[in-house]
Amino acid sequence: MPYYLTTPIYYVNGKPHIGHAYTTCAADILVRHRRQRGDETFFLTGVDEHATKVYRVAEEQGLPVQEYVDQIAEVWRELAPRLNAEPDFFIRTSDEGHKRFVREFLQRIYDNGDVYEGVYSGLYCVGCEEFKSEDELIDGKCPIHGTVPERIEEKNYFFRLSAYQDRLLELYDARADFVLPEFRFNEARSFIAGGLQDFSISRAGQPWGIPLPWDESQVAYVWADALINYLSALTYARPGEDLRPEFWPGRHLMAKDILRFHCIYWPAMLLAAGYEVPKQIFVHGYLLLDDKKVSKSLGNVVDPLELIDVYGADPIRYWCARAVSFGQDGSASIDGIHERYERELGNDLGNLLSRTTAMIERYRDGRIWPRAGRNDELAAAVDEMRGGVERNLDRYDITGAIDAIWSLVRRLNRYVTDRAPWVLAKDESQAAELDAILYDLADGLRVVAIAVASYLPETAPRLLEALGQPLDLAWDGVAYGRLVPAERIGAAPPLFPRIDPPPALAAA
Ligand code: MSP
Repeated sequence: MPYYLTTPIYYVNGKPHIGHAYTTCAADILVRHRRQRGDETFFLTGVDEHATKVYRVAEEQGLPVQEYVDQIAEVWRELAPRLNAEPDFFIRTSDEGHKRFVREFLQRIYDNGDVYEGVYSGLYCVGCEEFKSEDELIDGKCPIHGTVPERIEEKNYFFRLSAYQDRLLELYDARADFVLPEFRFNEARSFIAGGLQDFSISRAGQPWGIPLPWDESQVAYVWADALINYLSALTYARPGEDLRPEFWPGRHLMAKDILRFHCIYWPAMLLAAGYEVPKQIFVHGYLLLDDKKVSKSLGNVVDPLELIDVYGADPIRYWCARAVSFGQDGSASIDGIHERYERELGNDLGNLLSRTTAMIERYRDGRIWPRAGRNDELAAAVDEMRGGVERNLDRYDITGAIDAIWSLVRRLNRYVTDRAPWVLAKDESQAAELDAILYDLADGLRVVAIAVASYLPETAPRLLEALGQPLDLAWDGVAYGRLVPAERIGAAPPLFPRIDPPPALAAA
């Protein structure tokens, strides 16, 4: 099955922070998992360059805007690889391929009669890059940015969103899982039911953007340009290939801040242009870092992203999945990274591997071979974990799925404690029992390695290697009893060696 997943394209008015990393990690976990299950995948991320706020930062820095975005886009391009995420394409909205496609797309909407000329007179928040109505403001200020929006009066082209209310409601009523989680679906649906207003899709008087094909004196409004990236990328990501037939419609992942654009504007624009609407939209929560703590304890010494340099990408990915229940809002602390690194990655998983391999080396001369009989209980636990991961990831719940994996990790740890192999090792008559236990531990760890590979892509192969197993991450391997005989297994070095917390964290 083709599986196409996107992250938002991020604004380049500043540098990436841990919030952007959060979405990118989640998306990569989902896509890698799909690939393990045998799907043909396409993962898109990138940057949104034609925003007014981007233009203004370039001006402040005294740089020609194209030069500014060319520089900062490279910083953003590094985000995914630093997180060990593997997007298939990194889109920039200043790509020629994107600009060409946006013009075609908007022209289609125009030709279909859904665009008309009007005068926009009202408020615009540059922070949100969004037109605001008076009643959305608090004390005359944008509730998100705390700034007074700018008053704008200009000739604009409007998209007839109001004409799509019924079709959007039909869509929502026909597809209960169009938007997930359910409370976000309800939020989007009630917004539609409350009535939709046409929105401006162009800006006059701004030189930065994609000129409208039918009126070059105006540029596309940044959202009318940006949303289209999800389709445009498929037309030029692989030169000479059109990926739309295989991958469209795709799935979108983003946080609740941009729900309306994705769940309402975008499907309506697609309908207007004669495209299928997205397959699914998952809206996750906002990860609120304990701000005071971050700024106080980190004192701007450690940029959260620099934590990757301290801990490596895998622990940061793991923390993203664990920090709050994915989909819900939640506040998390940066200190949690260190705690989870030591307790869960270091102790639960790392020590389990070290102990298991050390025992295989010591008691069985580094050899492991098929055991007699099978451990039905463990086999059932593996099946349960496998089902749990599949069910959770099928609904984007990266937290639920890692919980299911960790239940198995904990179970294996309990198995060691309960069966005390070091006691059995002293008694020759218990040799077969010890063989069976060592086999089960190694096989359990092999299963964990494959299951957790989408979260810990660097660690998973190390686990398999330490157990002398082929580096095959195919999902079929998540089944009891597939361990292949191996020799020369030696006590594995710690997967997650002790690290001193960065000074700023230690001071927290
Ligand atoms: N450029 C638009 C998106 C256009 S998509 C066609 C934009 N950019 S953004 O840089 O502001 O990115 C917003 C997105 O970044 C959120 O929807 C979310 O995916 C991610 N996050 C930024 N901060 C975040 C948190 N603190 N917590 C969770 N996600 C965060 O909006």
